[in-house]
Amino acid sequence: MGRPAPAGGLAGLRDEIVAHAGCGYEPCETATRTVPGEGNPEAAVVFVGEAPGATEDELGRPFVGRAGKLLDELLAEAGLQRSDVWITNVVKARPPKNRDPKAPEIAHWMPVLEREIELIRPRFIVPLGRHALKHFAPAAKIGEVHGTLVNGRLFPLYHPAAAMYNQTLKSTLFDDARALGALLAQP
Ligand code: URA
Repeated sequence: MGRPAPAGGLAGLRDEIVAHAGCGYEPCETATRTVPGEGNPEAAVVFVGEAPGATEDELGRPFVGRAGKLLDELLAEAGLQRSDVWITNVVKARPPKNRDPKAPEIAHWMPVLEREIELIRPRFIVPLGRHALKHFAPAAKIGEVHGTLVNGRLFPLYHPAAAMYNQTLKSTLFDDARALGALLAQP
């Protein structure tokens, strides 16, 4: 028998994220709303971005802006739909002007991400971009490990936002998405 899941479940975690207030960290104080993860609670794959952008901040959902549109296309390339996977971010509140989240802000949200992953227990985690990758594999470089299986459970991809205006990166990202699809097809 596996370990017991953290109390409260994903719905409890979501409520906590939505109600999050008063911590004093800049993104949490300046964001319009926090953005919980969403998708299939029994997903085999969890996609982890960096932090919400403007559209996500407005709508309270992860990856629903332009980077999200590209993520949807990548999912399709891997034979997946949003309803098959779980999509979340390291930091759940938009940093002002989309600046990179600072180390203390990442540390502030890390226990939440860890509980989220613990509740879903996915077969694979897909960190999107170097910031998300840093948390899971601090020594790994996205340019070297993208599209490969790292430590048996990580399958890093370039961040879709980085590929939006870079045709070479974009085609690499689509190749990597197909490789993820092939990995998932393995028993
Ligand atoms: N970029 C991210 O890293 N996360 C989002 O939710 C949207 C854009």
